[in-house]
Amino acid sequence: MDALLQDQQALFALQEDIMAWSASWLRQLDARPVAHPGDPLPPPRPLPTTGLGLPAVWQAFKQDLAPGFNAAPGPRYLGFVTGGVTPASLAGDWLTAVLDQNVASTGNSIATGVELQVLDWLCQLLDLPSSLAGSLTTGATAANLLGMVCARQHAGWRQGRDVARDGLGGVAIEVFSATPHASSLKVLGLVGLGREQVVAVPCLPDSEAMDVAALGSLLAGSSAPGKIVIASAGTVTGTDFDDLAAIAALCRAHHAWLHVDGAFGLFSRLDPSRREWTAGIEQADSITCDAHKWLNVPYDCGIFLTRHAEVLQQCCSVSAPYLDQDDALPALMDRGIEQSRRFRALPLWFNLLAYGRGGVRQWVEANCDQAARLAAWLEASADFELLKTPKLNVVVFRPVRGEAQALLQQLNAGGEVFMTPGQWRGKAGIRAAFSNWRTTDADVERVCRALARVAGA
Ligand SMILES: Cc1ncc(COP(=O)(O)O)c(C=O)c1O
Repeated sequence: MDALLQDQQALFALQEDIMAWSASWLRQLDARPVAHPGDPLPPPRPLPTTGLGLPAVWQAFKQDLAPGFNAAPGPRYLGFVTGGVTPASLAGDWLTAVLDQNVASTGNSIATGVELQVLDWLCQLLDLPSSLAGSLTTGATAANLLGMVCARQHAGWRQGRDVARDGLGGVAIEVFSATPHASSLKVLGLVGLGREQVVAVPCLPDSEAMDVAALGSLLAGSSAPGKIVIASAGTVTGTDFDDLAAIAALCRAHHAWLHVDGAFGLFSRLDPSRREWTAGIEQADSITCDAHKWLNVPYDCGIFLTRHAEVLQQCCSVSAPYLDQDDALPALMDRGIEQSRRFRALPLWFNLLAYGRGGVRQWVEANCDQAARLAAWLEASADFELLKTPKLNVVVFRPVRGEAQALLQQLNAGGEVFMTPGQWRGKAGIRAAFSNWRTTDADVERVCRALARVAGA
């Protein structure tokens, strides 16, 4: 106890040092190695019997761990779909730990109200109906999980069974999708519907978007009483968009649940020239979006929304005497996976209030322009083949000579830029995804120079 009280004083004494270190880390992001291929390991240390105390641990952190972190929040980390961290969301995230609110039940903190406000702002930002209900999740995978849990429950209802209460039993469900994200396949495994049981809907030519006519025939031919369609609002490589309005009409006709994964692609709605790509989204039964991608808040923040609050509630709500409360606001543990969890809404509250719709729109448009700029350079280059003209923020390409994987390794080893592998229509390639507020046109030029160097080497 004394040691902990001493450490509390130590924290207050160290805070300026920790702040100064943080400021220097952020200022130097641009100069740090963008990645450390090979995953460095921390020096081995036995678990101490008597703890070292915060001041010694702070020194150990700086010495042993700090050199091994990559500059993922920096401007040239173009792997996966990786957002940065805005100053306002970082402030909100720090305070989240300080405040340590458990956003589970209601009646004893403003935290639930803040999350509900943030969900409402997100609906305004994305121009979605304010009647949607949902919660903040760990990420898009967890939002996809909630989508499938609700879809499964709905399919059970149609077959006279409460799946959340009684299990799947003999409930028959068929899942249809054209280009589901890997996380959706993982989720189908988790919810007992089977990763390899998806009915593959063909794609349109040279696209990852669903062939809606083919979906219509497959739905008409299916005898499964429960049907789920997973649509994409932005596939992770081609950034193609399924025709949501047409798919929603088919889902209505065939009593299928429509889940839309718009983890990053939903932000295309902020750009008037791309707004039409997600027309019909408001008819989806459930929607996944991600905040730790294009909204540039720190990790651990996804978004799940549904038109069916009652289904979500039935899936997530369990009663226990110590949990029963009678409050005006919904308890968020009844709308999500966890019972106890962190106050994810606060970084978003800071972010959305600090930068508004206009700020987010600027990041989205700038990142899309950067993707187009890189694509134009690749197209003009004799060393590379652009595999698909980017529609949004992802560029997929390959070297004209040699293996994409080998070139990617060389590129990432340089420490100036980080990209991840991709595949387009069976051709192995390299993917660069732009979703960081820090990335500038000058960074795109550095990326082009780095690519030219490895291609020439
Ligand atoms: C379309 C899509 N869905 C889901 C995910 C999974 O998101 P997360 O890593 O936040 O769980 C991603 C990640 O890139 C994605 O692009």
